Amino acid sequence: MEGRLRDLPAPVRAGLSCTLLAILGGFVASGVHLRFHHANRDERPGLSVDDLRGAYRGIRTRAPLLVALERGHPDDLAANERKALLDWLRGSRLAEDYDDPERGDAAPAEVLGRRCLSCHSRTAGTSRPPNLDFWDDVKAAAVSRDVRPVDTKILAASTHTHALSLGGLSILLGGLLLATRGPRPLVHGAALLLGLSLFLDLASWWLSRGSGAFLGVLLVSGTLFNLLSVLGTAGILLDLWLPKRPS
Ligand code: HEC
Repeated sequence: MEGRLRDLPAPVRAGLSCTLLAILGGFVASGVHLRFHHANRDERPGLSVDDLRGAYRGIRTRAPLLVALERGHPDDLAANERKALLDWLRGSRLAEDYDDPERGDAAPAEVLGRRCLSCHSRTAGTSRPPNLDFWDDVKAAAVSRDVRPVDTKILAASTHTHALSLGGLSILLGGLLLATRGPRPLVHGAALLLGLSLFLDLASWWLSRGSGAFLGVLLVSGTLFNLLSVLGTAGILLDLWLPKRPS
């Protein structure tokens, strides 16, 4: 079977090449989709590992400000000031009430400015994280997160389509790779890793719900599968058109 691909008639190779280009386009589109679909899942902009964690495992964190105030930090904070901050942090109007003028001296921005900036400011001599100078700084420390993982029904539907389509695709790519002139160890390794990474990727979608440890597997196997598919497709395209070696 080795090298048979290049022997196919030119129209067949042209048709196959167009199909492979369409598949490459599909991989680009799924990368773009991943960005749009998951980027803000962790309630912070941009695609990060926490977005994947949110999608497959869920995230529950309490705002660092809430945790610190509840444990009695800083110890010289007046009771009414602590209460004003806690009520604000436990409510749902973080941005709106941050510097609400109607609250006067009890507005969160005022209390933080009076009672915290001496230590938590970029300009304080012995600054400690978190910085609380600006709303953007405060926001990062004020938001509690409760990100629920993707609904089981949606994950089942997604597994069903991905397993069948990507499974078919990797069998196809593996078969085509075998028919190229590519060095055998490379082709055999690629065939093994394509299947293995796809299996581990899909399995860890589900296993991540039980244990965060599988998020690493998900990240590595998902990346590997996509990389191998793209490289494999490009390799097949090259093999279809590179001139034959003189026999
Ligand atoms: C006198 C200095 C000082 C003042 C005033 C102060 N802090 Fe702190 N803060 C610290 C120090 C030192 C730490 C680190 C040690 C600790 O956690 O107690 C800290 C830690 C924290 C942390 C924990 C960071 C983390 O991620 O674990 C938060 C949140 C915090 N402060 C919020 C505040 C808030 C809100 C105020 C005002 C109401 C405030 N602090 C006032 C000195 C201060």
